[in-house]
Amino acid sequence: MVVKMQMKRNVRILLVGDRSVGKTSLILSLVSEEFPENVPSKAEEITIPADVTPEQVPTNIVDFSAAEQSDENLNEQIKKANVICVVYAVDDDDSIDRISSHWLPLIRLNHPDKPCPVVLVGNKIDLVDYSTIDGVFPIMDEFSEIETCIECSAKTLKNISEMFYYAQKAVLHPTPPIYSVEKAD
Ligand code: GTP
Repeated sequence: MVVKMQMKRNVRILLVGDRSVGKTSLILSLVSEEFPENVPSKAEEITIPADVTPEQVPTNIVDFSAAEQSDENLNEQIKKANVICVVYAVDDDDSIDRISSHWLPLIRLNHPDKPCPVVLVGNKIDLVDYSTIDGVFPIMDEFSEIETCIECSAKTLKNISEMFYYAQKAVLHPTPPIYSVEKAD
């Protein structure tokens, strides 16, 4: 018996989210293992070699900056991504509202045939003493492409490597939907 396995040659992770939620800081914190005090508006695209990633797959991490990029360029990057981290700041309710009013619909528009897996990332947990996870559950119910959500801090480095691991895992080992209304008779 021959078992055909589909191997992914690399994983392309895109970070999107409102201004100042900490996308660039998250990427730079992962790479340098320290919080950048002076953060550029956009991080260069980063390639992490297979042997230092938990899943042994080369991984590209791509930043987005509204200040530097056009809408066309953003749409192009969304199309190219294998997984998208939608970042919000836990102390910024507007950035949470915009997950479902702006970012997830935009991602759907750019992946009309097959949903692109999404990881929700609540950054800046060092600034608050509560969790936003309960508030985010209704969004996860509405948008089944969300694989998981995680709270982290680029400043204290809490859950930073976990966040990128979840993103890799969402591509390599996606969770099948438990129940799909569209497929039900
Ligand atoms: P844009 O380029 O405008 O889209 O912003 P961005 O989402 O890339 O955010 P950026 O990394 O530039 O961070 C915005 C501000 O938030 C900076 O002043 C950071 O120092 C700060 N910041 C980022 N992450 C954290 C965090 O985890 N905790 C705290 N306290 N501040 C953070």
